[in-house]
Amino acid sequence: MDTTTTTLSSSPLKRARKLRDEEEATKTSSVARIIDGRRMAKDIRAELKAEIETMARKPGLAVVLVGNRTDSATYVRMKKKAAAEVEIFSVDVTLPDSVTQEELLKAVKKLNEDPRVDGILVQLPLPKHIDEATVLKSIRVDKDVDGFSALNIGNLCLRGGDEPQALPCTPAGCMEMLRRTGVQTRGKRAVVIGRSNIVGMPVSQMLQQLDATVTVCHSKTLDMESIVRNADIVVAAVGRAEMVRGNWIKPGAVVIDVGINRKDDATRKRGYRLVGDVCFEEAKHVASAITPVPGGVGPMTIAMLIRNTVRLAKARTKREAA
Ligand code: GUN
Repeated sequence: MDTTTTTLSSSPLKRARKLRDEEEATKTSSVARIIDGRRMAKDIRAELKAEIETMARKPGLAVVLVGNRTDSATYVRMKKKAAAEVEIFSVDVTLPDSVTQEELLKAVKKLNEDPRVDGILVQLPLPKHIDEATVLKSIRVDKDVDGFSALNIGNLCLRGGDEPQALPCTPAGCMEMLRRTGVQTRGKRAVVIGRSNIVGMPVSQMLQQLDATVTVCHSKTLDMESIVRNADIVVAAVGRAEMVRGNWIKPGAVVIDVGINRKDDATRKRGYRLVGDVCFEEAKHVASAITPVPGGVGPMTIAMLIRNTVRLAKARTKREAA
């Protein structure tokens, strides 16, 4: 006879606990839902393409690449390809590593004044001799397609502020993945690993706006593992290959992995493979849903860039008509 069942059935509380334990066991023994960013991004780009087809004037995007980082060159190539596919007009500016700050500022000024351009993106990071903040500040706020300006970030952080004209693309992509996956954020514990201006800071604000209780971990955080272990939602944006292990993840948590890191792999022709900040092979047995790397957040970042470009173009058309 199953004495446990008999005993537990006598108390509703114990029955509820047993049910919870069984649910936890199911979660840990099965493989997480893989959140397919590639497919989601494809859908979004198709939605945006249909929207662009209805516009009297095609939106314009300028992409500025400085230096010879292969990762930046790859991202820029993918951004331009996605823009072309939805018939966004694009302007490329490619400058050598040796470009002076003044020359770069001049290039941005030219784009600020170019009526064909609705959004300007300067791919980061910039070479060491250039002050990133100065360059970003030189982009006209109404062409800030990355949503990095103080006005857009300020409005993002304010309760009751104006709607930002553009939202930082990677954080917006993370949130869109949560939304399209049907993940509830209200009252949930979210942990963001990383506090960068590009990802950690804005995504923590977005999660808070959706009523999550947010903790931001960073390089000085003590006992990060136990903080992450409490999280219902984990956003990892730290840039360290597979730093977050499977045993850091709370059973049933949702994991959004922003990291794109190279890991040596002699079985690959190029000698490496791409991995996230989370050890996917371990975490997928614990989480209820997880984004893969590659094919997770990356394509969503690009889809959000297209969305921002369309929004800025529409906002400009509206301003000019007023
Ligand atoms: N480098 C890495 N991510 C980004 C991004 O979202 N925008 C820009 N401009 N540079 C980046």
